Amino acid sequence: MSRKQDLLSLMNIDISWMKNISHDEVSHTSFEDLELNSRYCDKCSLSETRNNVVFGKGSKDAKILIIGEAPGKDEDQSGEPFVGRAGKLLNEILFSMKLTRDKVYITNTVKCRPPENRNPNSDEIQSCSGFLDSQIDSISPKIIILLGKVAAESIMNTTETMASLRGKVHYYKDTKIPMLVFYHPAYLLRSPSEKRKVWDDILLMRTITDGC
Ligand code: URA
Repeated sequence: MSRKQDLLSLMNIDISWMKNISHDEVSHTSFEDLELNSRYCDKCSLSETRNNVVFGKGSKDAKILIIGEAPGKDEDQSGEPFVGRAGKLLNEILFSMKLTRDKVYITNTVKCRPPENRNPNSDEIQSCSGFLDSQIDSISPKIIILLGKVAAESIMNTTETMASLRGKVHYYKDTKIPMLVFYHPAYLLRSPSEKRKVWDDILLMRTITDGC
């Protein structure tokens, strides 16, 4: 697929009428092209204040896709997700799952830092959803882990509380890809007594991934 077709596809413009493009090709735009395109994205105002687009990092063949909220200051500076304090805790959580970052793929609901680390708004999440959908389509993970309320709300389109979302298996849109909601590491840093509950989340995750 050409770069122009790529961009049209990212903008959710139907390009199936274009010569020789099968659905398979449309949904399997090269991951590298997708990442490259994201660097030029100006679909929302976050592009005006970002230093770097934080597209995501990890294995494109990962069985586990982890989706956080939005890049913070450290991520905006480095261009990588979860490199700050929350990222260090995420590394520890991965370690207790016997995983390392190169075995999973980590991204966020929006790829650019919201100013002052505010939550991304629904327009920003919507503008960025084409990238996330394409990442999920391309990686085709066996399980998706949503970190925190913002990720859960935006992907599941729900206003349910974390307490009711955690500990249950959800599914990504109308697919059979299971999704679990975990506490966000930044929340766990603020509420260390909740950390022990992560172990329950990990056990639930294992019931799904052990069969993969
Ligand atoms: N918090 C997030 O949700 N994502 C990051 O990349 C960093 C902190």
